[in-house]
Amino acid sequence: MQTVRTLSDLRAAVAAFRAEGARVAFVPTMGALHAGHLALVDAAKRAGTKVVVSIFVNPKQFGPKEDLARYPRREAADSRLLVEAGCDLLWLPPVEVMYPDGFATNISVNGVTEGLDGAARPGHFDGVATVVAKLFNQVGPDAAYFGEKDYQQLQVIRRLVADLDFPIEIVGVPTQRDDDGLALSSRNIYLDEEERAKAIALPRALGVAARAIARGVPAEDAITEAQNSLAAAGFMVDYVAVVDAETLAEAPAPDRPLRLLAAARMGQTRLIDNVAIVLD
Ligand code: PAJ
Repeated sequence: MQTVRTLSDLRAAVAAFRAEGARVAFVPTMGALHAGHLALVDAAKRAGTKVVVSIFVNPKQFGPKEDLARYPRREAADSRLLVEAGCDLLWLPPVEVMYPDGFATNISVNGVTEGLDGAARPGHFDGVATVVAKLFNQVGPDAAYFGEKDYQQLQVIRRLVADLDFPIEIVGVPTQRDDDGLALSSRNIYLDEEERAKAIALPRALGVAARAIARGVPAEDAITEAQNSLAAAGFMVDYVAVVDAETLAEAPAPDRPLRLLAAARMGQTRLIDNVAIVLD
């Protein structure tokens, strides 16, 4: 695996892949890699491509009171995991390369960013859309892989790519979970033992609610029950919502695919999760 830290080295390495006739797949990350990230690398690898991974903790997507300063940074361990996973090229841009003095562009995707995490974290998806558009232009991949774990982010990227004609196929990869069902996240390390044990209430509540809605229980009732069981487990609930799986509209039209999403805080740690609603 080659590691590059300048734009000219990145472009030369990608050009060398192209010269071999390779298809280039890209996995953007913020590091502190776990099996969720590696599932994206694996999916990219199985598509028969050269895989480029970026690690950049993007300051523009963190709010002023969020965890930018304490977000885990583990470059050496990440690099070893990526070698084992078969990553071909690691892009580690310094912050001055991403946001040089005078940087003044903001990409704002409307609609799909308005509710859920977009409402709870003002400016977050502008930060994501701006950095991802920039990374796409730097790497120039044929395909890019994103996790369903960050479901709203995946839909924002799909909208961005469609609206701005990025010639990039966006591939969504199912959420990877611990054995007890908790979605893997770089933020899970913030949970102490007791919080970690209580956190399984989140995937459980979503599973119960999704099955209830699939059986015909009204969404409002299933949502109320999920909110109650999360509160009983010690979560402060940000939202539990049933939305259109593509547009994320809160009042989905009949016969549209649905998605159930939640965000909730356990102590200092904010967790998100989501599941499909598979109608019987
Ligand atoms: P990060 O949180 O590091 O996640 C990088 C990618 O890994 C995202 O596409 C995310 O959805 C995916 N991922 C994380 N946990 C996962 C899990 N348990 N199962 C499957 N996929 C998982 O998301 C970001 O970084 C940033 O917003 C980024 C897109 C890199 C822009 O800065």
